[in-house]
Amino acid sequence: MKVTIDGHTIEVDAGTTVLQAARMIGGECVPPTMCYYSKLKQTGGKCRCCLVEVSKGSENDPRPMPKLQPSCITNVQDGMEVKSASSERAVKARKAITELLLINHPLDCPVCDQAGECDLQDLAYQTKTYKSRFTEEKETYEPEDIGPYISLNKNRCIICYRCLRVADQLTPERVHGVMNRGDHSEISTYIKGAIDNDFSGNMIDVCPVGALTDKTARFQSRIWFAKPFNAHRGCSKCEGKAVLWMFGSEIYRVSAPKDAYHEAENFICNECRFDHKNANDWTIDGPRKFERLSVNNVNNYTEKLNKVQFNIDELPLQGRPQDREKISMPDFPFTECEKKQIKKADEE
Ligand code: SF4
Ligand code: FES
Repeated sequence: MKVTIDGHTIEVDAGTTVLQAARMIGGECVPPTMCYYSKLKQTGGKCRCCLVEVSKGSENDPRPMPKLQPSCITNVQDGMEVKSASSERAVKARKAITELLLINHPLDCPVCDQAGECDLQDLAYQTKTYKSRFTEEKETYEPEDIGPYISLNKNRCIICYRCLRVADQLTPERVHGVMNRGDHSEISTYIKGAIDNDFSGNMIDVCPVGALTDKTARFQSRIWFAKPFNAHRGCSKCEGKAVLWMFGSEIYRVSAPKDAYHEAENFICNECRFDHKNANDWTIDGPRKFERLSVNNVNNYTEKLNKVQFNIDELPLQGRPQDREKISMPDFPFTECEKKQIKKADEE
């Protein structure tokens, strides 16, 4: 099937979603995601961050779809034409969704362990959502202790359902869920029981915000001060491939390696994540590159640097040539080129 997204045409198999097709193309046309997770089944369709405009339904039915569509759960049709970053409507809607997600989300990035690698923080920067019009009181929840490894902060939860999918698909049984509906929704009271199994730590990695964070690394450092390294170890429960976040030879945190979309490349077991914080337990393969633009890797040297242009008159920086001539010292005469500039400026 042929689909065109932001002017780029690609052939894909039947059953491919618009989001997957956009990821195959890559670049700016890839919509942001907060609930979809390619490594887990039945994700997506919850947050509406990935909205796109379908300007042509298909070859057989070329009518545009009147409403914006969530790209992560919309299947491609042959001949479909989609506008993603090029659609003013979609971009505006994504910004509105970001503002909506931030309504009840506390703006506690300065003390949140997820800061720097938070998908919501990145989304807010990406959509330039810097201000909120919400003046009412934010919904808050009592703290809940869910065991020694994972810290739950329900106030930050955006009800993306990813951690439920981890519990469903990676652990023997799910013992937590989303209680209530609408703005009363909250992530369960039974999450405590989900901690007693070997893969529960992956909830930390899939959580797009700071609702689930690693208790063993909590409040110890900002993530951008630690250096990530690819490492592996022989493990009987998982592949044993992880990322070590280190200060010198000290391991600050162990997480699953993540791809360009900030999704785990492989899930890791709790033993690798929480019990092996000694560098001698691991074979270090080398430093890990930052894969995507995020708050964590702003200004890092692996990103292509944009040329900065100052939209101001050059004069305040350099001074006018004729003024410089007046104060110039005889020991430092003007060059031929500067003399020409002065002459030109005088003539003007
Ligand atoms: S706790 Fe995190 S992963 Fe779970 S639903 Fe809330 S935001 Fe999503
Ligand atoms: S990523 Fe598509 S609806 Fe959330």
